[in-house]
Amino acid sequence: MHPALAAICSYLIELINMKLKSTISYLLVALVLLNACSVSKQNTAPTDIPSLKEVFKNDFLIGTALNISQIQEKDAVAAMLVPQQFNVVTAENVMKSVNMQPRWNDFNFKQADQFVKYATSRNLKIVGHTLVWHSQLPEYMKSMQSADSVRQFVANQITSIAGRYKDKIYSWDVVNEALNEDGSMRQSVFLKTLGYTYVVDAFKQTAVVSPKSELYYNDYNIEQPKKRFGCIALVKEIQAAGVKIDGVGIQGHWHLGKVPFKEIEESIIQYAALGLKVAITELDINVLPTKVDGADVNTRTKADAASNPYSSGLPDSVQKQLADDYTTLFKLFLKHKDKISRVTFWGVHDGQSWLNGWPIPGRTNYPLLFDRKGNPKPAFYSVIATQK
Ligand code: G3I
Repeated sequence: MHPALAAICSYLIELINMKLKSTISYLLVALVLLNACSVSKQNTAPTDIPSLKEVFKNDFLIGTALNISQIQEKDAVAAMLVPQQFNVVTAENVMKSVNMQPRWNDFNFKQADQFVKYATSRNLKIVGHTLVWHSQLPEYMKSMQSADSVRQFVANQITSIAGRYKDKIYSWDVVNEALNEDGSMRQSVFLKTLGYTYVVDAFKQTAVVSPKSELYYNDYNIEQPKKRFGCIALVKEIQAAGVKIDGVGIQGHWHLGKVPFKEIEESIIQYAALGLKVAITELDINVLPTKVDGADVNTRTKADAASNPYSSGLPDSVQKQLADDYTTLFKLFLKHKDKISRVTFWGVHDGQSWLNGWPIPGRTNYPLLFDRKGNPKPAFYSVIATQK
């Protein structure tokens, strides 16, 4: 063979070899990465821990709120924890009117259907949240002044949403956050146009459309004396009208070291005395410095140098205080388990809690029982230990 041709041939053989080698190395690297990913997936959310729903199975239901990425199974930590730990789920956002009825009388059921399918296929009870709420309203509703139009909007919400899912829903948050902190009625678009009877009417309509579901009034800070007084008055209105109401939901957005245990206990007793069940519907404990109380999503405050102190981890002392607060709470819930139907956490793990974004965006909060990787925190084991 001509030496030049031989040189070209050997160059080509070398090239093919190199290509093959590099393809094989790519394949090897990909395999290693794939393996690493599956190992890291296995490492999130351990399988050999106690289960909240099992531990409290004779006491009350244990729930969590689910966001859209969890409903669509894009959150690997939640995918593992939800069926393991909880027996009831609430839609954190997908059943709110801005998502359900974005245009007048034009419903978008896609995500709510996904939520209901997710829950029913895993045998989880479903809380519908929420049929009548002044917040997260579609734009066209916010400035509506005609009573007839608002009445029609509410009736459409109830007939279309509660009607579609009726037999699948364990419990509806029929009306959400209708009260001010002083116990008076909030000046919402519903109150302004329809008057205070809108609450009674909403319960009446939901009872007709979804007769097998339990019906709740849900609000934050209704353990506080003035707001509790207003809530009791509202419940009595509903009962006096002969309309079904099964319970009240105390949301339970509380603050580290300041959980109002005494007021919570008084409220559980007083609400139960009205013949109602009590649910803790949105439990979390905010560990960050926060100047606002309650859970009004429209409140925003400014960040300063001290507003995000635990961005690189939670100190042991704070971790312990969180565990202590949760212990006291669950001991209280167990003491009154005959009155409590359900305790629902507002989120599965710290990484997706709304408290990372409220009232100051972009903070690192630690309000729940599972950390960002799905590992149980000391607070988880403290809660488990309350049930002996
Ligand atoms: O879906 C939109 C998305 O399209 C958009 O790009 C993005 C940009 O901001 O916003 C997305 O919507 C956000 C939604 O959560 C879904 O992530 C809203 O801005 C945000 O305001 C909304 O926050 C929710 C809030 O209610 C208001 O609806 C929180 O996740 C949710 O935890 C919170 O839950 C409420 C309860 O329903 C009632 N009680 C108080 C509780 C805490 O505020």
